[in-house]
Amino acid sequence: MRQVLGLFRKKTNKGFRSSFILFGLMVLTVASCNSPADKVHPLTKTWEKAIPNQEVPEGLTSLSSVECGSCHQNHYAEWKLSTHAHAWTDLQFQAERKKDSSPLMCINCHIPLQNQQEYIVTGLIDGDIYRPVKTKNPKFDKKLQQEGITCASCHVRGNSVIGPSGRNKAPHKTIIDPDFLSERLCISCHNANAVITPVLACTFETGDEWKSGPYFGKKNCITCHMDTVRREIVPGFGERLSHFHYFPGSGIPKLDTLETKVLNGLAFYPSSPKEAYLVNEEITYKLKVKNEFAGHKVPTGDPERFFIISFELKDVHGNVLSEKTERIGEIWQWHPVARKLSDNNLAPMEEREFVFSYIPENREKLTLFVKVTKNRMDKKTADYNKLGANYPLFITIFNSEYKMEVR
Ligand code: HEC
Ligand code: HEC
Ligand code: HEC
Ligand code: HEC
Ligand code: HEC
Repeated sequence: MRQVLGLFRKKTNKGFRSSFILFGLMVLTVASCNSPADKVHPLTKTWEKAIPNQEVPEGLTSLSSVECGSCHQNHYAEWKLSTHAHAWTDLQFQAERKKDSSPLMCINCHIPLQNQQEYIVTGLIDGDIYRPVKTKNPKFDKKLQQEGITCASCHVRGNSVIGPSGRNKAPHKTIIDPDFLSERLCISCHNANAVITPVLACTFETGDEWKSGPYFGKKNCITCHMDTVRREIVPGFGERLSHFHYFPGSGIPKLDTLETKVLNGLAFYPSSPKEAYLVNEEITYKLKVKNEFAGHKVPTGDPERFFIISFELKDVHGNVLSEKTERIGEIWQWHPVARKLSDNNLAPMEEREFVFSYIPENREKLTLFVKVTKNRMDKKTADYNKLGANYPLFITIFNSEYKMEVR
């Protein structure tokens, strides 16, 4: 789920919440004769609940990825580079979490284990997500909290390590559960679609996009995002089938010091513009892009993601004679109610052609620059959240230049 963004957000939310409280008071006065003033509603949605506190599995001394990593060195090194490892420490997540409009539940997909959370939430007063009934968690582990979606988030349940084969050479208690370690685990966090308050919408539909697309039944989240390799999973224990734990996605890093793995969904089919042109004759260049490799829409998940396709025609002095910008992504309105205005994300195997044309009037050498960037969010949003100059906002995935002369 994603909190709404926009310059009006804070003001709007305050307005919304104070009217909500007023309304609550009115109800309270009417209802106070024969029912308790505050009714506690149980948690109903999966994301409203944390994974219950886990005990350290037999054979281990902590739940921390650092301990797992002392034996599973490759898995640890790979995971450390993934956005999963940064799901809590991410500057943007922290900026958004601290806003009045963010309910406590935001944390359930970002630090999913109860052990990572300071409070245990047992219900909602009057069903209001901003009024959780909470008690201090005696098992709260602040260090584990920093690890975000850590090894134990996916591998520890019922106080045991869950593995795909139950190899009993492990020094820790291990349970085989390949069904649990399936794409369903991924979808439990990567698909949520609800309007929580008028200005707080949550729209991650990666699971649904995959289910209704051409890869369903053929390739799943794990096939594409956790490549296989034969290797030792612990030095000295012999090679076996293993999976890389980089969880590559957009590849836009969370820190400018991180070298993230990139997956690209788009394939590019550029036309070759004429090397020589005639004055007053149209120059045309076409770039076809196709979502050839992603099992869901591109972009997917966070509605703030987008691609920019930019064309710039320059003369020899570097003056821009003509330019054009195209965008692939969603546009949302967040005020006064959260509403999707447009969505031209590319479905799996869908293609789109972008055309740039220009009629040269002078005899001169021209260069056409074509660039495609994959963007995490726009600059305005980054500035609004004070993410600083070093927060990576985009990566370039296509970059070409074409020189043209007068015939
Ligand atoms: C249902 C699980 C779930 C909940 C609940 C949830 N998130 Fe997320 N969040 C995700 C997933 C999954 C992603 C990654 C989406 C992607 O990259 O496609 C994400 C990504 C993010 C990001 C990074 C965005 C980016 O551009 O990389 C931020 C910030 C964020 N969430 C904030 C929040 C806030 C604030 C809340 C509470 C209002 C929240 N999340 C609640 C699942 C969740
Ligand atoms: C003291 C070393 C050690 C530590 C610490 C350790 N493991 Fe293991 N683990 C092993 C060994 C050894 C195996 C079996 C290797 C084999 O059979 O090839 C194993 C196997 C596994 C498997 C595969 C089980 C299967 O069903 O195939 C998983 C998953 C796993 N460990 C996860 C973890 C997690 C998560 C942690 C931290 C909470 C952890 N391990 C901590 C040594 C360790
Ligand atoms: C056929 C392979 C394939 C399958 C199946 C697949 N993905 Fe992806 N996924 C990709 C590729 C390729 C990208 C990179 C898209 C891009 O940014 O260009 C990607 C990107 C992502 C991203 C990053 C968001 C973004 O817009 O880049 C998330 C999150 C993600 N996938 C989650 C999932 C989940 C969850 C599933 C299962 C429901 C899944 N994927 C299934 C190939 C796949
Ligand atoms: C987002 C969920 C997720 C996280 C986080 C995660 N794993 Fe895994 N892991 C999986 C899945 C899924 C598989 C099984 C893939 C399969 O067999 O289809 C797996 C498999 C494994 C295996 C079995 C061998 C292999 O490579 O297939 C080991 C060992 C393992 N993980 C260790 C770790 C360690 C150590 C960490 C933390 C550093 C970690 N995992 C973090 C999901 C996760
Ligand atoms: C506990 C919730 C949770 C589970 C389970 C989970 N994810 Fe994620 N995933 C997230 C969140 C939250 C983020 C975003 C972290 C951030 O941006 O700070 C994310 C990010 C990603 C990204 C990177 C998106 C990018 O920015 O490029 C990919 C790819 C991904 N997850 C794939 C998977 C796959 C595959 C599985 C199943 C093996 C899985 N996830 C299981 C919550 C989860």
